[in-house]
Amino acid sequence: MAGSETYIPLVSSLDKIYSTSQTLAKEGARWDNLMNEFERQYGKKPDFVARAPGRVNIIGEHVDHQGFSVLPAAIEMDILMVVKITPAKGGADDSKVKFVLSNTTPRFERATFETEFKQGCQDVLLNHEGGDRWANYFKVAVKGLHPHLPPATLSPSTRPALIEVLVNGTIPPESSLSSSAAMTSCSSIVVLEAFGARNLISRREMAEVAIESERLVGVNSGGMDQAASIFGVPGHALHIEFYPELKATPTRMPKCDPSHTFVIANTLIVSDKKVTGPIHYNLRTVELRLASRAIAKKLDLPMTEATAQLNGLLRAFYEKNSLPTGDAGVEQARKEAGDEGARIFYFGRIAEDAIPKEAVTRVEAEKLTGYSGTAYDDEFLSRFPIRGERFELYKRAHHVFDEALRTLRFRKILGDATAAQSMAADGGAAQYAQLGKMLDDCHTSMRDFYQASCPELETVVQIAKQNGALGSRLTGAGWGGSTVSLVPSAQVPRLLDALKEGYFKKRFPDITQEKIDQSLLATEPAGGACVYAIAA
Ligand code: GLA
Repeated sequence: MAGSETYIPLVSSLDKIYSTSQTLAKEGARWDNLMNEFERQYGKKPDFVARAPGRVNIIGEHVDHQGFSVLPAAIEMDILMVVKITPAKGGADDSKVKFVLSNTTPRFERATFETEFKQGCQDVLLNHEGGDRWANYFKVAVKGLHPHLPPATLSPSTRPALIEVLVNGTIPPESSLSSSAAMTSCSSIVVLEAFGARNLISRREMAEVAIESERLVGVNSGGMDQAASIFGVPGHALHIEFYPELKATPTRMPKCDPSHTFVIANTLIVSDKKVTGPIHYNLRTVELRLASRAIAKKLDLPMTEATAQLNGLLRAFYEKNSLPTGDAGVEQARKEAGDEGARIFYFGRIAEDAIPKEAVTRVEAEKLTGYSGTAYDDEFLSRFPIRGERFELYKRAHHVFDEALRTLRFRKILGDATAAQSMAADGGAAQYAQLGKMLDDCHTSMRDFYQASCPELETVVQIAKQNGALGSRLTGAGWGGSTVSLVPSAQVPRLLDALKEGYFKKRFPDITQEKIDQSLLATEPAGGACVYAIAA
């Protein structure tokens, strides 16, 4: 399994983390400042640094929570946690572990908490107000990782008594570049290393822990962000699958002369999943759960926890049914996206026919799903709060099937090009044109069917398309945040300039050049999470 079974790597030089010489110089200075700041704040030298990067999702939007595969890449922007461990003395009083957390961003206040490892960490309470609310990420990481730590690592003779941490991040918060998953992943890695368990718990298990931890913070998210942060490989996108188990396969963009690059543009419109979950992210996952149940009822498929996700439902469907032969649509999907693509295409068509095209009220949803009264509340409303009068079952499901298939088509072009190890006869231009078109189609579906765009995202996508991008779309959860565009490298300066003048300076007349520079990024996929050992 490509890379999924190995451990979080230990690195000892920054060039194993950052690839370009420009970033290396900048990062070197940042790391030096952080070491000094740690010593200034804690009066001692740190032992190690944990790093977890953000990600850009290239394609496969809002399908991970339905169990379908996605194609993101880790980016160079990251979270760093500089750490000092003080071991326990092994005495009877050593059942508690104390955490001291500080953050280089002043609005995140210093936080301290203690946890009783004898009692399974149940005493760690989440705070929901105040400047130290950010410490929740750490608390859920502790709670989440604790049951996975082998008993030997918890013994009072090896366990830490004090974990002191300084946090610094370069991923703009709520920019849909996954600052939050990088926080959960990085916190879990701090605990992992502090308990001496880095070579005992696999990267896959770490990604699963980080996914669970994020849900404890209040969003019903899928697993893309944490997996991308943990499995990132320099120069590669990652094909992340969730069935039959979490698996990340590094894959390259096709070779092409002249070359192409991805440009990320942060609209600076804040998209906070935790705050807007009830009307955006979590509401969509409830609409999809309603759709799954309504399709299951109509097609007489089992209603289990697995079939509450559309991919689980698809698999239940194929336990009883097989693909038809001689269906032109199915054959086309197979050609472009393999057997799994054909299965998605065919089931998607049947499933979409099983649900009404128009939005439904709760009364109608009760009839369609067969759940009513308290059973409805338990099934659809008990996990996360949502607010909505009418629910779009068809639109959301249509987006998911379409996007899941598109992701496999995109991935096939990458896979074929990687396997061929050479440029297509026309230098890859035709492949890039197809990839660009898929990014555009993804955006249209996210806007019209998933309804997760906003005016600023539309403006930025439009400017990119008019200034050389082959394809451009919102990336991540949506409702603000960033876009990703596929651009011939020679067109990058023109595109950056057009966005600067046509979006940033118009939308934010007082914006500084520094802020614009931070918001525009022509990027190469970066390496994943790691621990950096500091020489004694
Ligand atoms: C957020 C979630 C991910 C994924 C994307 C949308 O980033 O954390 O799991 O669902 O939105 O694709």
